[in-house]
Amino acid sequence: MDEPTPQLRDKHRLLSELARRRGFFWGSFEIYGGVSGFIDLGPMGTGLKREIEDTWREFFLRRHGFVEISTPIITPQRVLEASGHIKNFKDPMTECTNCHRRFRADQLIKENTGTETEGLDLEQLTILLKQAKCPECGGILGAPQYFVTMFKTNIGPYGEDPAYTRPEAAQGIFVDFHRVLEVMRERFPLGIAQVGTVLRNEISPRQGPIRLREFTIMDFEIFFDPETPECPYLEEVKDDKLFIVTEDTRRKGKNETTRITTAEALEKRLVKSPWMAYFMAQSTRFLAKLGIDQHNQRFFEKLSTERAHYSAQTFDHEVKLDRWDWVEVAGFAYRTDYDLRSHMQATGIDLRVFKAYDSPVEKTIRTIRPSHEKIRQKFGKDAGRIISLLGKEDLPRILQGKKTGDSIRIEAHDIPIELFDTKEETIKETGAKFLPHVIEPSFGVERLVYSTLEHNLRMKDERLILSLPFGIAPIQAAVYPLVNKDGLVEKAQSVHRSLREGGLRVEYDDAGSIGRRYARADEAGIPLGITVDYDTLKDDTVTLRDRDSWNQIRVKVKELKPTIDSIVNTGFPTKTR
Ligand code: GLY
Repeated sequence: MDEPTPQLRDKHRLLSELARRRGFFWGSFEIYGGVSGFIDLGPMGTGLKREIEDTWREFFLRRHGFVEISTPIITPQRVLEASGHIKNFKDPMTECTNCHRRFRADQLIKENTGTETEGLDLEQLTILLKQAKCPECGGILGAPQYFVTMFKTNIGPYGEDPAYTRPEAAQGIFVDFHRVLEVMRERFPLGIAQVGTVLRNEISPRQGPIRLREFTIMDFEIFFDPETPECPYLEEVKDDKLFIVTEDTRRKGKNETTRITTAEALEKRLVKSPWMAYFMAQSTRFLAKLGIDQHNQRFFEKLSTERAHYSAQTFDHEVKLDRWDWVEVAGFAYRTDYDLRSHMQATGIDLRVFKAYDSPVEKTIRTIRPSHEKIRQKFGKDAGRIISLLGKEDLPRILQGKKTGDSIRIEAHDIPIELFDTKEETIKETGAKFLPHVIEPSFGVERLVYSTLEHNLRMKDERLILSLPFGIAPIQAAVYPLVNKDGLVEKAQSVHRSLREGGLRVEYDDAGSIGRRYARADEAGIPLGITVDYDTLKDDTVTLRDRDSWNQIRVKVKELKPTIDSIVNTGFPTKTR
């Protein structure tokens, strides 16, 4: 099945035509000539996207008790400054000196010379660009500059509150971390997810549905204590194989895949965090559930020069596609405490988590005891401020001051040492605060939609079939009256209604010959067809047809739902009519 038949050589073209014909996707703003980097999802594409998102929620969130939030797309500049995006979220851009079209410099170099450019500076890129030409007119390419790939905007009419559209949903999660922690009654480790639109102002996207300027991301962050980094669910996947192209292999100039169990990958430190390894194994299972065989998946470790600014280790979860070879559909990043620390520094808000000790620990500490009376006499109305400043002052410096008999200078105030004292106290500490570390699995939904479609595209007797798994098929069954007369329509409508009320996603189709309706349903990925014919009126049976084998069985109407349930579990019976 995996070996493409000759007719399926150009899967992208076949799929794009099918997607347009059956309502999965097409280029946006078509009647205005289109704009690259944007696609529209039609009724079937929207349905498939919704099913993939819901399967993902079940797979990664609900069963672990993780929660989902929703935050704005427009993000104030100061948030993205703190997160490091303003400084780092950029690509090198070159302009053709002849036709003045602009391109990503790194991609042109890769296409023209095969050279990987990650980590190279503008000067090095300028030298390599001399070996490339403008892909549009063959002209000479200019020196590259960086282009921030976030859409810039302003909040309100006056332009004094600059903002960007978010390039990832993760920042909303970090900014809200302490609030969600409180709502979740300090549950830890805590998983927080966000599914939503993100925008990236790609310089010259030329990969159709694969490189989009606006797409849906499913980001989730696992916040855990770096002193207890274990993942309690690991046992479930410890024997699952991971297919990894490691950083080490890549540094040797190879792209070989290491096939290793999840447990071994951790033992050998190929994956640095148990949470990361666990979710990589689950992600492999998730993609298999979408119909993407593990042999068409791999984890591609990023080199230190390629990783995003926040990541200590990154794996791209890639899927092999006919037109574009290996394409990232998800990223796994060990973001450490980078984001929380950055937002804590920028806002002064304490984002640390309190951890209680098993039993309180006694500690001897020295504290400052300001003499309120003397401070009032010397500083009058500023006394309150001086007392507060003393409270914040570094104790060793004060003790040093006392030793030498100096005054202490804090901000613009000289505070004589006789205005305060220090005292030794024994206190009971019940716990300590720490800054959580974060593992982030992050999925691009449109790429998952595309990969799912491509990996379920088959050819049977010169006809295209989309073998979408039953669980994610936007429509799971179609009901057809054989002809539109003699009471068959009413009967078919009643079968349609009862299946829909039974919880199936089912459509009613009475347009065209039955052969054409079957062919249409096969292309739309509808797993089961139910035909109401003249025999139905006599014995209350219908024909149940399987999309993939085209096998048919005769089933009593009242047995339809249990028969479908059993087919979902055990497959379509091989017996034909
Ligand atoms: N948060 C995932 C990404 O930026 O790709």
